[in-house]
Amino acid sequence: MSRIGLDRRAFIASALALAASGCATPAPGPPPSPPEPAVDLEARPPLREVAAARGLFYGASAISTVLDRDPAFAAAFARECGLLVPDYEAKWDQIQPAPGLFDFSKVNRLVEFARAHGMLFRGHALLWHHQVPSWLPPALASEDPRNILEAHVRRVVEQYRGAVHSWDVVNEAVELNDGRSDGLRNSLWLKSVGPGYLDLAFRVAHEADPGARLSYNDYGLDHAEVWNVRKRVAVLELLRDLRGRDVPIDALGLQAHLTAGLPFDGAGLRAFIRAVAALGLEVYVTELDVIDARLPDDGTRDAKVARLVGDYLGAVLAEPAVKGVITWGLSDKYSWLNSPSAPEARRGDGKPVRGLPLDPEMRRTAMWKALADSLGTRVIGYNSDGRAAPDRQG
Ligand code: G3I
Repeated sequence: MSRIGLDRRAFIASALALAASGCATPAPGPPPSPPEPAVDLEARPPLREVAAARGLFYGASAISTVLDRDPAFAAAFARECGLLVPDYEAKWDQIQPAPGLFDFSKVNRLVEFARAHGMLFRGHALLWHHQVPSWLPPALASEDPRNILEAHVRRVVEQYRGAVHSWDVVNEAVELNDGRSDGLRNSLWLKSVGPGYLDLAFRVAHEADPGARLSYNDYGLDHAEVWNVRKRVAVLELLRDLRGRDVPIDALGLQAHLTAGLPFDGAGLRAFIRAVAALGLEVYVTELDVIDARLPDDGTRDAKVARLVGDYLGAVLAEPAVKGVITWGLSDKYSWLNSPSAPEARRGDGKPVRGLPLDPEMRRTAMWKALADSLGTRVIGYNSDGRAAPDRQG
């Protein structure tokens, strides 16, 4: 039995206690702050500057064709974002549409845009069970699946060697409903290669670009329903096992697709983040947005979304291991939550979801303010014991 860090033991104990209790009731938040004087949000510094001043990154996902066809969106993206991650154009069916045929044209466009605007570039995602080309499943069944996996990962990571802040090497590999004792999803990767597919993907990615941070990315780790708490335990065990085998992994991506109205337990999430950090990993918020389908459209929707974002970021940014925040999209005009890809986000009143920092006219929203306020109050330094160091700017 490996010696488990105090943080991890504390996390598991709190997680299991929480699971046994049903699920966390939202800790009574601080009393609602008095209404602030109206401020001109448009006059405030952009999110990328607020984040950078606190040693963090802020960015968003983007689609190259949208950046090319919508100058107002491209200008807003350049203003607000210090990092760009492809929404779907770096996924397998776009990059390798036929065996051995690689098309980097769209991702090259995104890398160029990031470089032109002094942004970090983040790769997403080398291995996922969605958006795979039709040729892949039969090929995995008839050829050596390890060779197919390795050829794709190596070719793609080498293409952008030295240009990438981090890669999501494996996306969403944990699915407890599949009933495996290791919690792994019964995906085409698991079926063809076996549980070792994760080790192989990370090792090949590291060989191809030793300078890129390599992350495991997943959803459902943020709220405090029983399944969320159970998934945190499973993901922590996966990360501990990978680290125990010296697999080159550097970070965990918390997707943070939040749902307004679901229970949130900041203390439990922080304990999880500390347990992940105790493994020597960084933590990134990688796909933040808010599903507001449960909220009535009664004039309070935006404030409630902003409150949830403030509570969430107030918790996670209190942990030194958290190095940045990425929203999944920048403007509600192009949010995946309003696309056919997200039927679960659809509102009963049919109105568009409003879960991103900019509205369809590229105006800053209450969520933008919650993001800016949270990023701006992150303590810059921490003492070795994890206590907040006095703000050197203070
Ligand atoms: O842009 C093309 C369009 O030209 C074409 O006519 C149309 C019909 O084929 O497809 C359009 O591309 C779609 C793309 O979204 C842009 O809308 C793809 O088919 C569609 O598969 C793609 O869905 C993406 C989904 O992942 C699957 O890759 C979503 O945009 C994207 O937001 C979503 O993101 C995932 C993360 O990668 C992982 N975490 C969960 C997150 C949400 O599902």
